Amino acid sequence: MATGRDDIGATRTGADRGRVVVFGSLNVDSTSYVDDFPEPGETILSRDYRVALGGKGANQAVAAHVAGAPVDFVACIGDDASGAFAYDTLERLGLPVGAIRRIPDAPTGVAQITVAASGENTIIVTGGANLALTPELVHRDRALVAAAAVVLTQGELAAATIEQVAAVASESGTRFVLNLAPPARVSAATLAVADPIVLNEHEARAVGIGTDAPGDATLDDWRELAASAAGGIARSIVVTLGAAGATAADATGSWAVHAPRVTAVDTTGAGDGFTGTLAAFLAEGRPLPEALRIAVTAGALAVQARGTVDSYAARAEVLAAAAAES
Ligand code: RIB
Repeated sequence: MATGRDDIGATRTGADRGRVVVFGSLNVDSTSYVDDFPEPGETILSRDYRVALGGKGANQAVAAHVAGAPVDFVACIGDDASGAFAYDTLERLGLPVGAIRRIPDAPTGVAQITVAASGENTIIVTGGANLALTPELVHRDRALVAAAAVVLTQGELAAATIEQVAAVASESGTRFVLNLAPPARVSAATLAVADPIVLNEHEARAVGIGTDAPGDATLDDWRELAASAAGGIARSIVVTLGAAGATAADATGSWAVHAPRVTAVDTTGAGDGFTGTLAAFLAEGRPLPEALRIAVTAGALAVQARGTVDSYAARAEVLAAAAAES
């Protein structure tokens, strides 16, 4: 167990780090590495291929775990070979699997991913067993929410399930972090209790933040847009801008953090690395601007390696890199 002073400042011990519970999607990612994306109707050959654990929920749970948080992960898998592979991978990574449910007659979620030489990707998700994570199952696991400092979910679950996570978080007084990726149609009341809601610029526009912002809006422009929406659309707001960095705003202020310049090899799951890290550091009591700075560093490290969970750097490496940037 780590003790003592972290590179970035505050004194922490493993025992006083807060728990994160993730209600989320779990997929098996089938990724082809290509030079360029194919045009419609075109057949191309890939340079490489891999199958790995994915899903925004699973990725964020692993990122929070790697960042040092005690994590509970609630998810559904099919009773199939992909589900067994995902379950074994989570166990190998050291995550508890007691809240993973096997759903008979449903396939494990799958994502078909293409990664171009630029590091950009396209992703198609087929939800499968993820859609069996119902509001009723969230209600059954409400004790996990009550025991956590932060509850985290994403837009890959059904809207009613996300709304139930928000409701249970409010009842329990647990901080609700919502990554609305993709932009699920949840109620304004659910968005309003998110602290923060984590969005990229497309998702921000989908919830009414920066709808008229030009495509070349700067990080500081987005900081102002987030500031004008904080306390209204959501309690606090984080907008990620890829290689440019990320902004955050709450009732006390607004912040912009430029990302370090890096060469992107694979951006898949980098946003999940960012979000899981942000949740972990908020859970242990770091202020939003500090958690934001650490999460931006975690995201920048993640794009420099292939894959999702395999690209997440350990806590000590992230903290050292964040301290070097400040
Ligand atoms: O954010 C990356 C993730 O999106 C992939 O792991 C894929 O499964 C989809 O959920």
